[in-house]
Amino acid sequence: MNNLYLKAVRGESLKISPVWMMRQAGRYLPEYLDVRKKHEFLEVCSIPELACEVTLQPIRRFKFDAAILFSDILVPLVPMGINLSFGKGHGPQIANPVRSTRDIQNLKNFEPREELGFVLDAIRMIRAELPTDVALIGFTGAPFTLATYLIEGGKPNPFANTKRLMYTEPEAFASLLNFLGTIMADYLHAMVEAGADAVQVFDTWAGILPEREFRNVNLPVLQQIFQHLNSLKIPSTYFALGSSHLLNSIKETGCSVIGLDWRLPIPETRKIIGNDVAVQGNLDPTVLLADEATIRRETRQIVVAGREKGGHIFNLGHGILPMTPISSVEIMLDEIRKA
Ligand code: CP3
Repeated sequence: MNNLYLKAVRGESLKISPVWMMRQAGRYLPEYLDVRKKHEFLEVCSIPELACEVTLQPIRRFKFDAAILFSDILVPLVPMGINLSFGKGHGPQIANPVRSTRDIQNLKNFEPREELGFVLDAIRMIRAELPTDVALIGFTGAPFTLATYLIEGGKPNPFANTKRLMYTEPEAFASLLNFLGTIMADYLHAMVEAGADAVQVFDTWAGILPEREFRNVNLPVLQQIFQHLNSLKIPSTYFALGSSHLLNSIKETGCSVIGLDWRLPIPETRKIIGNDVAVQGNLDPTVLLADEATIRRETRQIVVAGREKGGHIFNLGHGILPMTPISSVEIMLDEIRKA
């Protein structure tokens, strides 16, 4: 077993931290933009050959230790009956947002192996082409974050509709999270069957919750998902942006890796979560817009902190920004790997 990513996930101390980047196949890459000139975003997600090609682009260029399936957390909303589009420059939009108990009841249950077969085909293709020492990560959105998009109808800001439903109709809200949780657990299971070596659950907006609400509303459904993944013996990462105040609860989700944004340094995080779980992170993506000395200094700090207790996967604290120079990624990688 020569897969550094999977070794670090199990908590091993390694001379060189494995590394990948959230949104590593994306608009900072000229070869990705070439594909996007010819195909819409959702088209790339739905044609396995294209999804496979763009997934492999950053691996060819940078030899990352893990590839992440090219798709989007919102793709599984479409077979639920959601009308999803990605407009130029304004992110995802949902034409029929979910605002009432009736809307929630109308969401369609579906079999991911049928309705999302194109994603599973992409996974099979990618796994067949990837070198064995590169792990393939499948992913979904977490129920809470998917709910924010469903309810707000697009980029959730300021989350007023979501929180109103959560506070005024707690049972309807819970039923929505359970519905999403059941489908996502099954979808992740199908990804593992198709060849994913590990999975990541993106809970981008969980950080808007106070810890008490996170515990009451979000934690139970996350525990069900991670319990299911643990029964498959598949490593799982939980990532929530701006969630330093939730770390005590996140520790209880049952995930094998906690994904960190840039807000809290790794040693401070370790004081809260202990050493029984691996960590992933946590370079501020905007550091890659700075000069070489700054990139090296900030990267170094994380490498050193990660090595202290082992079980560290180097990543950014959130997705790489589209205006990031390729040379910045090369500098970051040189700093990580020159050890
Ligand atoms: O990480 C990867 O490289 C794998 C692919 C991936 C994408 N989206 C591709 C994408 C993953 C894992 C995601 C997850 C995702 N999508 C999240 C959770 C992680 C996070 O970023 O917080 C969220 C919240 C979404 C929803 C989403 N998709 C938004 C808000 C947007 C628009 C914002 C933006 O960056 O443009 C997208 C579009 C999207 N998803 C792009 C990519 C490469 C850009 C689409 C393009 O090419 O124009």
